[in-house]
Amino acid sequence: MARRRRAGSAKRQTEDHFTRKARREGFPARSVYKLQEIERKARLFRGGMKVLDLGASPGSWTLFAAKQVGPSGRVLSLDLKSPKTALPAHVEWRVGDAFTQPVEELGAPRSFDIVLSDMAPSTTGRRDLDQYRSFALFMRALELADSVLAPGGAFVGKLFQGSDFEQARQELRDRFEKVRVVQPPATRAESYEIFLVGQGYGCVDKP
Ligand SMILES: C[S@@+](CC[C@H](N)C(=O)[O-])C[C@H]1O[C@@H](n2cnc3c(N)ncnc32)[C@H](O)[C@@H]1O
Repeated sequence: MARRRRAGSAKRQTEDHFTRKARREGFPARSVYKLQEIERKARLFRGGMKVLDLGASPGSWTLFAAKQVGPSGRVLSLDLKSPKTALPAHVEWRVGDAFTQPVEELGAPRSFDIVLSDMAPSTTGRRDLDQYRSFALFMRALELADSVLAPGGAFVGKLFQGSDFEQARQELRDRFEKVRVVQPPATRAESYEIFLVGQGYGCVDKP
């Protein structure tokens, strides 16, 4: 009994403000407030849009995106894992690996308005290795975006900050009219993740 009480109190200590708020508001994870902050800054979503959500489990970003685009829009979510929440009818969930997912099975070329990637590797504690894997996921998300994003579309990608950051930002600058870096308040203090946001896909004036 005493042990159960101690376990309960440890859990409470790790549940911060954003975790409790997410549960109250019906989201499975606190990560929803990261996308909410990105949306507050960048205004990406409109009703009727088509969104690809990579690394979508447990489903907070998917739910947020589904609400933003409404029933006339569509969200296609992909993750190694299943969702941990009920999803509306205009969401399709696929369990799979972004590295091996055939791009042509995601939909017609240039048919998505937004590609989101909150994909993260299982961390090893070796910061250089974790950063390397995070960069590989970021680049894979961008590769998929290159096939499915419509001209003018938007991209949000998570990255563990490290020596690859400038390369990641340059990759976005080569493709998008506007690029910004967002570190939302809901990101944990000890985390070194950031989000790179690109808007205006293919609208870059090349010298
Ligand atoms: C931080 S969580 C995403 C949280 C999610 N955006 C939400 O709001 O609920 C990162 C996710 O990336 C997924 N992931 C990691 N590598 C992946 C890969 N190669 N393909 C697809 N998903 C991957 C993990 O399974 C994990 O669910």
